[in-house]
Amino acid sequence: MVKLAFNSALGQKDLKKEEKDEALIPQDVDVEDILRVRQQSRAWCWCMCLGLALILSGVVVGGAYLYRYYFTEEEKMYFCGVNYREENYRMRDSQEDTGMDLPTASKRIEERVRVLKDEGVELINIPVPKFSDSDPADIVHDFNRKLTAYLDLRLNKCYVIPLNTSVVMPPKSFAELLDNIEAGTYLPQSYLVREQMMVTGKVEHVDQLGYFIYGLCRGKDTYKLERRETVFGIQKREALNCHKILHFENKFVVETLICEP
Ligand SMILES: *[C@@H]1O[C@H](CO)[C@@H](O)[C@H](O)[C@H]1NC(C)=O
Repeated sequence: MVKLAFNSALGQKDLKKEEKDEALIPQDVDVEDILRVRQQSRAWCWCMCLGLALILSGVVVGGAYLYRYYFTEEEKMYFCGVNYREENYRMRDSQEDTGMDLPTASKRIEERVRVLKDEGVELINIPVPKFSDSDPADIVHDFNRKLTAYLDLRLNKCYVIPLNTSVVMPPKSFAELLDNIEAGTYLPQSYLVREQMMVTGKVEHVDQLGYFIYGLCRGKDTYKLERRETVFGIQKREALNCHKILHFENKFVVETLICEP
């Protein structure tokens, strides 16, 4: 009973409202106005469609770009670690007589790698190392330019040296090695190779060292390096101002000691 009364009351209200609305509509409706409204709504529809098309194409292009960036084989980003043993040369020499193998502590190095096979470039990032006093760094190996550049991220200085192909694996092989490390089919128990570099002078025109090294060293103090064959001059080493970068781009880990006179 109550419900019914309520409904009828509502119905009455609606009726009154309709009457009011009808009264509001002018009797002589302008045809031009209606046409204009239609045109406007059509224009608005076109705008919507165009906007939607734009957004869709943006999504497609962006998706393709992201896909290429993250998933294509050529530009895959690796994050890999390698365990290695730091050989103590003196200890090994004395051990050779007895033929015994003293266990040395195994260390671990991790790095981020991008291998650009088409460009012949390897891009390496060494985060702040957990288990050693070496510096974080960004490294570029450019096989077309036959150059290597180290950016020491602690000192914010760049160092350039001719690429040593017996240390740095070519991009294709290196990518294969990293694939195997990631897949777990190759569990590297690696070893350490030490090399010492001397700063021989400043590079003034970084823009002539190719796109990738320019990208790395632009706006930073950049120096030329020269390999030094005497690694065992420990006293000499202490007299110099040296810092090291640990990295790998082969089956072994390399400790690059960079010294300034
Ligand atoms: C390249 O590195 C290897 C191993 O460290 C070294 O024996 C060789 O002298 C280097 N070659 C050049 C050209 O520096």
